[in-house]
Amino acid sequence: MKKRMLGGLLAVSFFLAAQAGAAGEDARVKVEFPAMMKTHMLGNMRDHLRALHEIQAALAKGELDKAGDIAETRIGMSSLLAHNAAHMAPYMPEGMQAIGTEMHHAASRFAVVAKEGDLPRSLGALSKITEQCIACHAAYRVN
Ligand code: HEC
Repeated sequence: MKKRMLGGLLAVSFFLAAQAGAAGEDARVKVEFPAMMKTHMLGNMRDHLRALHEIQAALAKGELDKAGDIAETRIGMSSLLAHNAAHMAPYMPEGMQAIGTEMHHAASRFAVVAKEGDLPRSLGALSKITEQCIACHAAYRVN
């Protein structure tokens, strides 16, 4: 029993080591953006984090409608124009574009669910947004 657990632990640490790269180098794909676009994109990112924070605060107060509006306007499909998405997309690898698109869809789906007023389901839908943040950050970098 103990031996099997040790084997499992070893397998997990090999997996983590492989992900980080043997010498600890960064295995994420570097995406090259023109400098201004990079600044703009990182600004969008910081606003995404702030939006998530505001969404959680609204959910905690039972203001599910408000949480939905924040998600739709700041991360959802309605935010694409403000984020210059059409200009950014050509610089992104296809996989990155797909994750970004999925994040915008997930935010718009969250808005619909939140407006239905069910907190546990809303939290589930919120985690579908953060899943995309995590997926993209695990795979790509700009610096
Ligand atoms: C399609 C890809 C993608 C998605 C989706 C995405 N990000 Fe990012 N984000 C990035 C990349 C690339 C960076 C730069 C990371 C690096 O170079 O180390 C970044 C950086 C950030 C930063 C750091 C900003 C700075 O000033 O350096 C924050 C905060 C952030 N993201 C928040 C989020 C949040 C919150 C979400 C989800 C709501 C999200 N991101 C979704 C790609 C993405």
